[in-house]
Amino acid sequence: MNRIRKTYKDLAVFQGEPFFSEKLHVGRPNIGDESILLERLQDILQRRWLTNDGPYVREMEEEICKLTGVKHCIAVNNATLGLEIAARSLDLKGEVIVPSFTFIATAHALQWLGIKPVFCDVDPQTHNIDPAKVEALISEQTTGIVGVHLWGRPCDIQTLTEIARKHDLKLLFDAAHAFGCSFEGRMLGNFGDAEVYSFHATKFLNSFEGGAIVTNDEQVAEKARALRNFGYDCSDNIAFAGTNGKMSEISAAMGLTGLASMDDFINVNSRNYLTYVAELANVPGIHVIDYDAKERNNYQYIILEIDEQKCGLKRDDLMKILYSENVLARRYFHPGCHRAGPYASDESYSNLDLPETERLSACVLALPNGTAVSENEIKDICQIIRVCVNHAEEIRSKLNYVLA
Ligand SMILES: Cc1ncc(COP(=O)(O)O)c(C=O)c1O
Repeated sequence: MNRIRKTYKDLAVFQGEPFFSEKLHVGRPNIGDESILLERLQDILQRRWLTNDGPYVREMEEEICKLTGVKHCIAVNNATLGLEIAARSLDLKGEVIVPSFTFIATAHALQWLGIKPVFCDVDPQTHNIDPAKVEALISEQTTGIVGVHLWGRPCDIQTLTEIARKHDLKLLFDAAHAFGCSFEGRMLGNFGDAEVYSFHATKFLNSFEGGAIVTNDEQVAEKARALRNFGYDCSDNIAFAGTNGKMSEISAAMGLTGLASMDDFINVNSRNYLTYVAELANVPGIHVIDYDAKERNNYQYIILEIDEQKCGLKRDDLMKILYSENVLARRYFHPGCHRAGPYASDESYSNLDLPETERLSACVLALPNGTAVSENEIKDICQIIRVCVNHAEEIRSKLNYVLA
């Protein structure tokens, strides 16, 4: 084991040896009871029903409905395709307003369908789409709004619903981060015309890869179900040009196993979150984002906002120092979508002014959480951060840079 970091000279960037012998990733999977998972796998093999609306997929859909109170759940093979199917189920076309500060999949799902994502700025406190900036973006071509409950914290659902109603727009929520979270006591998944969870391996609940479209609208659910299965409706007619969005049985087995351990995941995540908050409380320039304790939260994301002037180090340098200690912190979501890939090279986006998205994508850093990280490891991660901030001046001069 490497020595405790007491001064900057102990840091791996200067003395070479990482503090952690194994890499601590953001998003290491939460896995429930392995023996139950293995039993389910045996069941699947014995039944020889591997996919196509199998019993585990149906059971998972029912469990999600029970847990969230949503009427319809359509399990899919990932949330990106789930967003595409949901967008098609809602007849989205033309332009759709979406926050730029999100994972690129939110925008790509629209772009892939030939819908133009119209990027909106976010609220500096919540990091979610800023409803005050939405109306100015509505045009003749606008058909909908996609809100993202970033980090599992709910969007301003009420105002977005009012705007959508007033302008006759569809409202879809990307709830990729928000499984198990609530808004005013009601589980996320119940809002807008539909919502989409992700069950990717990095998410609070995982099914290896996977996701689910949830809605209280029967027609939307019927269409999504058909679109998930090549467009076949329940009477075996091909009603739509569908796709293959089906979840496999093995994924549902993993999802069900995780569902049974959800409370344990939340207990560990919230304990870890409180440890990070306590350990970093007095570190200048480092703010751990809050979760509303009155709501249900999954606490999967430990998100730092870094004020470079106050902590004395650039976010990216802090990240590099953590990397060299085998703490694989992530710059979620850098850059904002409008600065990435096809959107950055599309002239129609070149004059966008999204100051909060720019600020957050330059200052946010995600740290490891989940059942694969121990409380002691978190204390050690925070100690490394404290040493970095306490010795920022020496580190800057060693790394040879000045803050702008
Ligand atoms: C906000 C957001 N939306 C959508 C997705 C896409 O989810 P999936 O990986 O299940 O396709 C992610 C995944 O990381 C995400 O973070």
